[in-house]
Amino acid sequence: MYYSEDLVEEIRSRNDIVDIINSYVSLKKKGNTYTACCPFHNEKTPSFHVSREKQLYHCFGCGAAGTVYTFLQQYENYTFPESVEFLANRAGIQLPQREMTLQERKEADYNSALKEINKAAAGYFYYALRQKNGEAAMKYLTDRGLSQETIHKFGLGYSNMYRDDLYQYLKQKGYDDKLLIDSGLVRFDERQGVNDVFWNRVMFPIMDLNGKVIGFGGRVLGDGLPKYVNSQETKIYEKRRHLYGFHIARRSRREGFILCEGYMDVISMHQAGFDNACASLGTAFTIQQAMLLKRYTDKVYLAYDSDGAGVSAAQKAIPILREVGISARVINMQPYKDPDEFIKALGAEAFEERIQQAESSIMFQVRVAAGKFNQQDPESRTQFQQEIAKIVAVLQEPLERDNYIEAIANQYFMDKKKLTDLVNRYGKYITEQKQYIEATQEEKPQDIRRQERLEQRKQQPQRLLLTWLVNYPKELFPQIRGRIGPEDFVDEFCQLLAKQLFEQYENLGDVQPAKIINQFEDVEEQTKVASVLQTTLKLEPSPEDNSVVITEIVRKVKEESIQYQLAHLQDYSRLQEIIKQKSEIPTWNISLTCG
Ligand code: UTP
Ligand code: MN
Repeated sequence: MYYSEDLVEEIRSRNDIVDIINSYVSLKKKGNTYTACCPFHNEKTPSFHVSREKQLYHCFGCGAAGTVYTFLQQYENYTFPESVEFLANRAGIQLPQREMTLQERKEADYNSALKEINKAAAGYFYYALRQKNGEAAMKYLTDRGLSQETIHKFGLGYSNMYRDDLYQYLKQKGYDDKLLIDSGLVRFDERQGVNDVFWNRVMFPIMDLNGKVIGFGGRVLGDGLPKYVNSQETKIYEKRRHLYGFHIARRSRREGFILCEGYMDVISMHQAGFDNACASLGTAFTIQQAMLLKRYTDKVYLAYDSDGAGVSAAQKAIPILREVGISARVINMQPYKDPDEFIKALGAEAFEERIQQAESSIMFQVRVAAGKFNQQDPESRTQFQQEIAKIVAVLQEPLERDNYIEAIANQYFMDKKKLTDLVNRYGKYITEQKQYIEATQEEKPQDIRRQERLEQRKQQPQRLLLTWLVNYPKELFPQIRGRIGPEDFVDEFCQLLAKQLFEQYENLGDVQPAKIINQFEDVEEQTKVASVLQTTLKLEPSPEDNSVVITEIVRKVKEESIQYQLAHLQDYSRLQEIIKQKSEIPTWNISLTCG
């Protein structure tokens, strides 16, 4: 950990979780908790809960959970130290110079060296484009209609025909071969030694959202193949997390984003004044990219190619955008192939019109489906109707659903009532299937998942006891004293939490669950801990019934603990004592006043 435990806790306690989360999503007060629609998955009814008392949040829909630190790590993509720094700054707390371990220092150095190398290479390419042997490349770009200003703004460059001049240039700057090969700009080949990866190509630097160069796309001058050569993925360049042009687009004052397929599309859109255009990086659009967009807007226009590949890419992007709560609209590029050609042929004003006329993603999907079925053939028409039902059923808002059904029924001459029935039937099916998918989604082999379930079941009484202890510390701790201690939590993870809860109660007479979570830097671990400590208990209506439940849990935990001790017994002189303890368990009764 970069910062001391005390400091991390101090900073956390000075930043109220309700205030912080409320600045991102608007929370509604409901009794002791605050609720909202979850920012981490798409939903229409709020299942995201924030507790001021416990200083924790938890989503019952997607399972996201944690402290104010976890939230910033998930929402802002901060690392743990970054979220500490952000909150310290907000609370006006001075932080000591961050002390890194050797490993951390190495990683930070490695990443910044990769960024330096990319920056140096971008400068080298930029310069080369303006030299004598860059003339053909410059002509290629200007022939495609790019102005000097645009070429400059996107930092375009040229990688010349020499086999290893970039390598020599970077080498002379002092970077060693291993780092240069890792950067993806040079490669090692047994026959030829070290070579540049990019030869005789127009270079498009790819930047992160702060405008730092992290990789390149290189286009052939003309019709050769492959059309593009791209940087491989590196520690600083994960294609699924970045969007081309996003460092400019995110500051645009235009409404929403325009999502294109290609580098050249983005560039010509910007040149025509649509500076909210960006594109994925030669790979399919991802959920991480959707989440990045969602941080700024909930409106995205798809400006994909009008050919079959473009249509199918749009159909894949639509549900991903919907998943994060973005409603997509599709821009019709006909009769042109892509935004670049469209703008060149008809200009910005005509494109602006196409934006205004952009089709909702639902109507787009319906129209594509209509093209696949023969409307005259009864059987085919039934299939078409089922396809429509599937498309419309994803809409959860009844009014919105109804409006679409009406529009589609009119346009395709269908019976509105029949279509409604069909849609509702699919709606149920989709809900069920979604639950099924969520339950099985993890990309883990069957046996590992089964193993995990088994472990979870074993942990269950211990987890439940922890949850009860967090919810009713003052009533429960005095009653279990001398009966159950942290060592009785035989599951390693539960024991870790138990130790800290017991210690807090002994020292403070109360528990602070959020403080325990501070100690985990990893979001997944934080979520796991929070979900144990934050769970709201399902109370029985009467105190008597609750007393029965908690008594049962306490006994169960002790029984399992004794079973474990017997199985691992080494000192047989303790046998008598353990057996005596066991015989006492049935006499235990815990009483609660809540209900
Ligand atoms: P396009 O073929 O539409 O490229 O591919 P483009 O950017 O519009 O280029 P021009 O107009 O023909 O010059 C869309 C995107 O797919 C990736 C690139 O990211 C490209 O921008 N791509 C395409 C590759 O990575 N490699 C290829 O060989 C082709
Ligand atoms: Mn193109």
